[in-house]
Amino acid sequence: MHDQPLQMTNISWAAFENLGLLEKAACLRDRDREYHVLYAQQFNRERLEHLGSLATAIRRLAKTKQGMQELQRLLSHKRAMLYFSQPSSRTFLSFAAACQILGLPVAEVRDTAVSSEFKGESKEDSVRTFSSYFDFIVMRTQIGGLAERMAWVLSNSERPVPIINAGAGKDQHPTQALLDIYTLQRSFEQQGGIDGKVVMFVGDLSRGRTVRSLAWLLTNYTRVRQIFVAPPELQVSEDIRQLLRSRNVDFLMSSDFEAHLPQADAVYMTRIQDEWDSVAGESRRIDTTKYHFLYRHLDLLKPQSVILHPFPRREEIEVTVDADPRAVYWRQMRNGMWIRAALIADLFRCDEQIFTAYGRM
Ligand code: NCD
Repeated sequence: MHDQPLQMTNISWAAFENLGLLEKAACLRDRDREYHVLYAQQFNRERLEHLGSLATAIRRLAKTKQGMQELQRLLSHKRAMLYFSQPSSRTFLSFAAACQILGLPVAEVRDTAVSSEFKGESKEDSVRTFSSYFDFIVMRTQIGGLAERMAWVLSNSERPVPIINAGAGKDQHPTQALLDIYTLQRSFEQQGGIDGKVVMFVGDLSRGRTVRSLAWLLTNYTRVRQIFVAPPELQVSEDIRQLLRSRNVDFLMSSDFEAHLPQADAVYMTRIQDEWDSVAGESRRIDTTKYHFLYRHLDLLKPQSVILHPFPRREEIEVTVDADPRAVYWRQMRNGMWIRAALIADLFRCDEQIFTAYGRM
């Protein structure tokens, strides 16, 4: 037993590294909310609902010039650093747009070949440099675990600033999962919310970090059934199955896409993550064509169901599907900007101010 709650500042890196995910998540809190945002495991239902309502307030305020001006005054005294050493379009741009909505100036490092890392600077020193100039760091990297290491380093430095994980290795993508949940909240608003829904994940489930984070967030809702549809080589990994079992989630794994479509309330399509192939061309040997959402599949889908995709898309959703009202992936993408604005505003405790401004509208 510990006398005081464990925090990043009273635990060694070696001890932190060895904690379970939920214990780690508890170390990242700042009183009633997250400080660093690293894992989907940090969010409970109450927080998901709070952030969803805040995103909606921001979205509606941003429709008018006056509302937008109020939003842009909120954080004009803060600065954001976007440190993206792994390719990104949506996540990067939506964070940049979210910062603009809140009046936050943004700087970026996207190519470490033009930063001092190229001269041999350690990641720790680079991140401490950013924290000298900026008030929080949004970080995407191909190195799993790097964001948490940097969060620990910063928390134990003279100038701690929060880190938001914008995608780490094959492991976690918590803010994508937040926007996915926000999209589901909005899609099922008139259908009793997310509780009791059937969510089907399709594609590369072993290496897709968005699936791993969203599968966890869905465990915050009751009676949600999760169906993982993938070729056996790309099925969701054992650690996620273990987490789902620990939360008594009803889930099943299958390689038959068409068989499960008629039951699905949400179909979450993903691309093959071949950049993680251990041998070049490895995933090209797997027949993934059976896991494509074709125009004809729309007939198998319930009228109120929705199709999501974190994007980028390749051929796993036929472009002609886009025109169907159940294809919500473009709206889902835009939701990323709203929920990220909500997360940042909440991190800096502007939530009440936003709700008040929204109440006056
Ligand atoms: C995802 C990612 O980077 O994990 N993209 C995103 O952030 N929307 C999905 C992917 O790359 O397939």
